[in-house]
Amino acid sequence: MRTPPRILVIEDDTDVREQLLATFRDEGYEVTACGTVREGKALLKSTGFALVTTDLRLPDASGLEVVRHIQASCPDCPVLVLTAFASVDSAVEAMRHGAFHYLAKPFSVNGLLVEVERALEHARLLRERSQLRERLSAESGLGRILGGSPAIESVRGLIREVARTSTTVLITGETGTGKELVANALHYESPRATGPLVKLNCAALTETLLESELFGHEKGAFTGAERSRAGRFERADGGTLFLDEISEMGPHVQAKLLRVLQGEAFERVGGDQPLRPDVRLVAATNRDPQQAVAEGKLRQDLFFRLNIVCVEVPPLRKRPEDIPLLARHFLGIFADRFGRGQASLDDEALNALCAYPWPGNVRELENCIERAVIVAQDGTVRRRNLPAPISGIEAEPPGAPLNLEALEKRAILQALRETGGNKSQAAAKLGIFPSSLYKKMKRFDIPLQPEP
Ligand SMILES: Nc1ncnc2c1ncn2[C@@H]1O[C@H](COP(=O)(O)OP(=O)(O)OP(=O)(O)O)[C@@H](O)[C@H]1O
Ligand SMILES: [Mg+2]
Repeated sequence: MRTPPRILVIEDDTDVREQLLATFRDEGYEVTACGTVREGKALLKSTGFALVTTDLRLPDASGLEVVRHIQASCPDCPVLVLTAFASVDSAVEAMRHGAFHYLAKPFSVNGLLVEVERALEHARLLRERSQLRERLSAESGLGRILGGSPAIESVRGLIREVARTSTTVLITGETGTGKELVANALHYESPRATGPLVKLNCAALTETLLESELFGHEKGAFTGAERSRAGRFERADGGTLFLDEISEMGPHVQAKLLRVLQGEAFERVGGDQPLRPDVRLVAATNRDPQQAVAEGKLRQDLFFRLNIVCVEVPPLRKRPEDIPLLARHFLGIFADRFGRGQASLDDEALNALCAYPWPGNVRELENCIERAVIVAQDGTVRRRNLPAPISGIEAEPPGAPLNLEALEKRAILQALRETGGNKSQAAAKLGIFPSSLYKKMKRFDIPLQPEP
């Protein structure tokens, strides 16, 4: 059985106090009572209460003092003020200081019990909401963005700052860097966290469809519009709208979006009712937005409007110190998923992962670990379990003769790979002069410019 809520009654009039005690006890509450503010504070220090009722006029101080004290020391505990001085002024003053509600004496027992129930329910909802927020943050917010590099720390810091506001945010970064995670965090760390998070990929739809998806349409607005439909903007009311691949949006929709961002109302396609939902817009692109502007793909004025705050997610090669942590994180996930028990990465594999430039960023690392967990049968991922470009181990046709020239070519390719195509470093690694390296590259048909 659940323990009954504990109520503290602060009341100097013995008759009223006894009546309150009896009423609350009859209802099954646990009750403690006292007659002064000083005693009340002492009890609050030693015992946890779910609710406090206090008189306003007490012998040693005002009940307002109780309200202020509780606001400061246990703000989750609601306070009901019971006052014989039904002056609106003092009651309003008490509520201004954080009292949940007030009742004027004489009050009806039922009226009191209803208020008590309401206050307890309110406190319970607040508690639940703060627990929910913590969970959302851990599971969908900042808790999901791993990495201890200064670059990622500063991304997290920026998210924390901007999440509190409702400003438009532009997220840039190469493919697979974690832009969607950033968008999620901006939502789940914000006061809008319990509102909707609505996502739309602008590259996936034709311009006409995109317009009706975003802004909605009325029945009959176009062929096939059999019903009226709210757009993503309307559905994101009170929450966040995430527009992915923003630079792929057609010019007509860009113009409409710009007007909305400038605070104008919009209508559904074929509708005439002006709409103005309360939405925080987050946009992302994996292109360089300035270049998209220069190429005439993205309107400059829209870019300025979106770019009020810009979160740049750095590519993985610029924060290689995050690779071991991310690799082990994904290893744990996939080992679990494929029932591999405790999986591990050996040092050689880890070194190979850290040396690779990851053009596909975290997503490529994630896919690589998934595959490695599958191919490493005993739960230990070794270098040879990684794809050739990462391990540097070329697959050898079975039974191939041990040919000195082939070995030489392989060594050269590997040295070029490890030095990112830098010929003098590669030559140094191989212990030959750069001029001989050039000659050998020519002989083996190795292109002088590394492939992109
Ligand atoms: N810092 C990180 N910590 C943990 N996982 C991450 C991190 N960054 C990215 N990921 C994971 O990598 C994958 C790719 O991330 P995400 O989809 O957010 O990338 P993106 O930048 O939106 O890529 P694209 O431009 O291709 O859409 C996801 O599975 C995501 O969970
Ligand atoms: Mg994405």
